[in-house]
Amino acid sequence: MTSEWGPLAGLIGEWESETGGLDTAFSHSRKEVLGSPYREKCSMKPFGPVDNGAQSLYGLDYRSAMWRGDEENPFHTEVGYWLWDAASGELMKCFVIPRGITVLAGTMTSADATTFTLEATLGDSRYVIGENTYLASNASSLSYKATITVGDATWSYDEVTTLRMNEFAEPFAHTDHNTLHRVS
Ligand code: HEM
Repeated sequence: MTSEWGPLAGLIGEWESETGGLDTAFSHSRKEVLGSPYREKCSMKPFGPVDNGAQSLYGLDYRSAMWRGDEENPFHTEVGYWLWDAASGELMKCFVIPRGITVLAGTMTSADATTFTLEATLGDSRYVIGENTYLASNASSLSYKATITVGDATWSYDEVTTLRMNEFAEPFAHTDHNTLHRVS
């Protein structure tokens, strides 16, 4: 589908997955790497245009939350914006994680793309990760890479955050993937 939202058009809506999410992270309470299945809700609301001089952006205002089993409070949340610049083909995902982490990930793609990969790197001059002082010393996010695939009333993501953690000699792959279905 092509529209002002380009490759983001198929992401507009309210989304859920009852099961199917899988997170791999180091659990400090268990002192081991844990695979955690999760369910998710995600809201993507269209807005635009936003003009920066000659640049015209269309975007999605998004909010997502994930729960393990029947826990009451989500164990992970994100708020942010997806942005599309039709003139240049630049696609961005800017978001905040309430651990004191901000991410501006981006790529170049086409308006009718149904799969795309966004990346951000610590210290990059453009697509960059920001983190708090504690995390910089103990569990630093070196890079973020997310591949999105948009289907018919469904979309999925597969993401890898590479962490430099005090617990491991080598960088650790903190991974997440899920498939969501449109509920409205
Ligand atoms: C669906 C997405 C995600 C989920 C479900 C998730 C979940 C988790 C979980 C369960 C932990 C372990 C907490 C603990 O037990 O100590 C964790 C830690 C962490 N995550 Fe994520 N995460 C996600 C995405 C991200 C992203 C995108 C980033 C960074 C760009 C990130 C950065 C971190 C960091 C820095 C830690 C702390 C590690 C530590 O203190 O040792 N996560 N996450």
